[in-house]
Amino acid sequence: MRPIWLPGNGQFRRFDVVQFTDGVARRIIAAIKEQIHAGAYQPGDRLPSTRTFAAEWGASRTTVTLAYGQLIAEGYLLSRAGTRPIVAKGLGAAAPAPAQISAPRHLSGFAQRLLALAASALPRPATTQPAPIADFRYGDLAGADFPVLAWRRALNRVSLRRKPRLRYGDPQGSPALRSGLQGYLWRARGITCSPEQIVIVSGSQQGLDLCARLLLDPGDAFVIENPGYLLARHAFAAAGGIARPVLVDRDGLTTDALPPARLAYVTPSHQFPLGGVLSATRRRALLAWAAKTGASIIEDDYDGEYRHDVAPIPPLQTLDPASVIYAGTFSKTLSPTLRLGYLVAPPSLIPAFAEAKRLTDRHTPLLEQEALAELLAEGAYERHVRSIRRKNSERRAVLLQALAEEIGPSVTVEGADTGLHVVAWLKDVAAGREPAIIAAARAAGVGLHPVSPLYDPAGLRPREAGFILGYAGLDSDALRRGIALLATVLAGQR
Ligand SMILES: Cc1ncc(COP(=O)(O)O)c(C=O)c1O
Repeated sequence: MRPIWLPGNGQFRRFDVVQFTDGVARRIIAAIKEQIHAGAYQPGDRLPSTRTFAAEWGASRTTVTLAYGQLIAEGYLLSRAGTRPIVAKGLGAAAPAPAQISAPRHLSGFAQRLLALAASALPRPATTQPAPIADFRYGDLAGADFPVLAWRRALNRVSLRRKPRLRYGDPQGSPALRSGLQGYLWRARGITCSPEQIVIVSGSQQGLDLCARLLLDPGDAFVIENPGYLLARHAFAAAGGIARPVLVDRDGLTTDALPPARLAYVTPSHQFPLGGVLSATRRRALLAWAAKTGASIIEDDYDGEYRHDVAPIPPLQTLDPASVIYAGTFSKTLSPTLRLGYLVAPPSLIPAFAEAKRLTDRHTPLLEQEALAELLAEGAYERHVRSIRRKNSERRAVLLQALAEEIGPSVTVEGADTGLHVVAWLKDVAAGREPAIIAAARAAGVGLHPVSPLYDPAGLRPREAGFILGYAGLDSDALRRGIALLATVLAGQR
């Protein structure tokens, strides 16, 4: 057996490889080789000290020293006296075999439906850098609007309240937050509910996903607004639901020919994306349809806090709390990055929602829930909503003025009364020109996002080019410069 010499206690000692037929040493050797092949350790990377490694593995230092020694002997590691070994040159991640990428083992029906969805139609925030001068991406808020001091104070307070044990919380959400929300929803939106009817979710998207899984079986039909919110449509379709797109107009969802379905997803306070408010007649017709068919209605009140020149309209939920599941979010008032939202559901559905939430992620992170409960209890959240509503009203006014002054009658603006975005239709510009306009705007530093991907892929598409202009992430200067640049781009395109 070939002996190896390793440093230890200030001198070199001889070890015979046979000494470490020891199972732990062999496992360490295999693990390090695997990490090197996978690229987790790159050539030149230093391995942890034998002391650290031994502590992590619960092994003795001698065992780790032996394992390192074997890897040195095999040429995986290089050692210099007195230093930790490094990974030898020429080793590293091997390119994955094509079969690994293209042939996953067995995928569930859910996974196959997911992959079949047109996910490419969605903007992908991680890979798309915002346009440098003005990105009108809908859904962003301005970082400067986040109430940093109030949030930090609230987080400090809840972190300092040391609990004797750190244990999982209620899957439905923090009782303090649910009770604060109950009061807020009554004051702000006229909703009467008990805290037991509220489920705190990780963004309203999780609420939609839970609704999909609890209310739909594969093959069940769901009504979805056309155009509508793609992530809602995808959540229901991934669960196996069959989309029944129903056209919207300036008064929201049209209700004269609602097809039979298990559920309907609607945005009655501010139709996404076109911005209409569901008329009283249509509200009644939708509720009558639900009563007749036994369907559930999911009311997404994603930006109900923002009404600019019009009086608030009570949510659909207030008219029929037994048929409507109300979804709300803090993504439009605090930050989309917090992932905090809520559902208000009829009491009969709560056990299923609570159990589904527990299986999904136990509960939404508790520290943030409790910090938010603090903001609600001390009135800081409502003060913040008033302030951000005012700021966004100002942004909207700047945007509308800039559109009128720079582009004038060749643009039709839709859905500006409420929310945080408008839709701009370019008169006499064919929808087919959208990609060219987007590319030219991008080159000028302006990010534009078309409406067309939000239409049912199998149905009629708008003839004119249209763009969703989100304004909540931009200051007045960026809004003005962005629209001025857009005007130049459009003039060049005509
Ligand atoms: C129609 C609609 N619903 C809900 C949301 C918010 O989703 P979440 O609460 O998951 O951030 C958005 C965000 O852009 C939206 O456009």
